[in-house]
Amino acid sequence: MSDKQIHDHVLTFVAAGHETAQNTLSWTLYLLSQHPHVRAKLLAELQTVLAGRTPTLDDLPALPYLESVINEAWRFYPPAWRQARMALEDFELDGYHIPAGTIAILSQWVVHNLPDIWGDPENFRPERWDKQQGQQIPQGAYFPFGLGPRICIGMPFAQLETKLLLATILQRYVPQLAPGARIVFQPLVTLRPRYGMPMRLEANDTLIPVAQEV
Ligand code: HEM
Repeated sequence: MSDKQIHDHVLTFVAAGHETAQNTLSWTLYLLSQHPHVRAKLLAELQTVLAGRTPTLDDLPALPYLESVINEAWRFYPPAWRQARMALEDFELDGYHIPAGTIAILSQWVVHNLPDIWGDPENFRPERWDKQQGQQIPQGAYFPFGLGPRICIGMPFAQLETKLLLATILQRYVPQLAPGARIVFQPLVTLRPRYGMPMRLEANDTLIPVAQEV
């Protein structure tokens, strides 16, 4: 690669990877502050598996509820809330003629909220992702990272960092929305909270003490 290619790749990774991950943490901590029963269930899983220690890659398969919470947060508040494609040539789709040059917008925000697909999309319910008892999600109904050949190249990394960060933070702290916080959407390239996400992280009293490291 030329220096310019390397520069452009690094810049794209930072631009595409930083804001989306920051969005994920903001909205997930917000959702957990609003759904204490979900946070309590998640904390129980984290404490059973990790007992206060810092999570590692090997712990992640034993944390299915953590995965469900994150999947549901990405359904509920998709950081990338819409994407667009331009038709290179004329084509027919379901009886519609789409001329070349048409821009089609596919919105995660819309599709992730269709009652026909989700039943109760307005409910933040991680249990719908349970591999045994959860919902059947039709192909294409859930695409927080896009789909097809241009699916997010950073998806595995984003899944990994989100799990590790949340498992670490939530064992130690209870996320509480700051009094008077105004939570308003600012849907730009990503789904931002317009006035930020002021949270207080309160020390978690139920924390199992971390084993003394030597
Ligand atoms: C929660 C975190 C993330 C979300 C929700 C997300 C979402 C997306 C979506 C929806 C696309 C497809 C856009 C389209 O098809 O028009 C995409 C593409 C992309 N993402 Fe992510 N992303 C995340 C994290 C990351 C990270 C961590 C990186 C890099 C380290 C990254 C790098 C990229 C790149 C380079 C592309 C373009 C891929 C291509 O066109 O072939 N993303 N992302």
